[in-house]
Amino acid sequence: MKKIVISTGGGDAPGLNAVIYAVVHACSKRGWEVYGSRCGYGGFLDIDEMVRLYPRDVEGIYAIGGTILGSTNKGNPFSCPVENLAGEIQVVDISDKILRNFKRMKFDCHIAIGGDGSLEIAHRFALKGMPVIGVPKTIDNDLEVTARTFGFDTAVATATEALDKLHSTAKSHNRVMVVEVMGRDSGWIALYSGISGGADVILLPEIPFDMENVCDKIADNELHDKHYSIVVVAEGAAPKDGKVFNKGRGELGREEVVLGGVGDWVADEIRKRTEKDTRSLTLGHLQRGGSPTTFDRLLAMRFGAAAVRLVEEGSFDKMVALVDSQMQAIPIVDAIKNRKKVDLNSDKVSTARDIGICLGDNSDETDILQETGVLS
Ligand code: F6P
Repeated sequence: MKKIVISTGGGDAPGLNAVIYAVVHACSKRGWEVYGSRCGYGGFLDIDEMVRLYPRDVEGIYAIGGTILGSTNKGNPFSCPVENLAGEIQVVDISDKILRNFKRMKFDCHIAIGGDGSLEIAHRFALKGMPVIGVPKTIDNDLEVTARTFGFDTAVATATEALDKLHSTAKSHNRVMVVEVMGRDSGWIALYSGISGGADVILLPEIPFDMENVCDKIADNELHDKHYSIVVVAEGAAPKDGKVFNKGRGELGREEVVLGGVGDWVADEIRKRTEKDTRSLTLGHLQRGGSPTTFDRLLAMRFGAAAVRLVEEGSFDKMVALVDSQMQAIPIVDAIKNRKKVDLNSDKVSTARDIGICLGDNSDETDILQETGVLS
């Protein structure tokens, strides 16, 4: 008999509930108990936030977006900003308290579902002695050791559907539509949805862009009797001069980078330079919502079941990953080392260029920058 606790941390992603479903069923089949900690580590701090999960509690949840346990991307137990009685912000470490309660509640393992931030926290707990298994999630698909994270396929489907819808209105009004998509410092969502959604221009964080090239593409469309254009901009994309678009909120004294705004800036520049009627929209958190696609559900359930098999083997401080189409266990410390960027030599980038999509650069120049190691 084992007693497992599961938590979901960081920004939500479609497929989280499918992992919970798989973990609950795989544990129940082995006769183990499963508990869910609400809002990340909430259940370790307040017993009312720790819920027993039976198969009946997770019926049908694999098809639902979000997470039944709730999540937070503001809860690092190792540096937790709290307001003291004088109204000052103090950063405190509450990890010992969480570890003590984990032991007091007699858990055998914590299955932590999260992105790089949550996995780093899970690894730090593993170093303190908590048996931990990580499950990777993020719509950004930017974790290096796993070919895919669940949530990405659904986010791409949502963005592609939005682009499909924008074509008709852009065409009716002879307009340029600029669409900002998520993805942090990686351009996966922009590239996949931009190609699939018939974009004329795709701007990625991996390629510093030049507005001259963007406007040339729009002028080229005009010349070929296409009087509208669709421009997809990743939220982490930046022009060649290195301008950073940060809406950082610094909640509770925290300095944080909150990406956003590049789409509006690109639209303004296009309007000024081409005098074309231009509109911009930010898809934002729409990309994190909705029912997971079949791909994401299946991947999430495979991750959940694989995590339980690792618990059975007693192989801790590992993260389940999709490697060569199979489930593998990778040390969490390796999984969080680097962010996965779009490979500029990949056939997807070549496909974009071959079908006439402008990536905001002069491709010959990008080749030289790659050869000289300036761009990876
Ligand atoms: O990492 C997932 C993600 O959706 C990013 O693409 C985006 O930059 C960020 O989270 C938004 O976070 P928040 O929910 O705090 O606005």
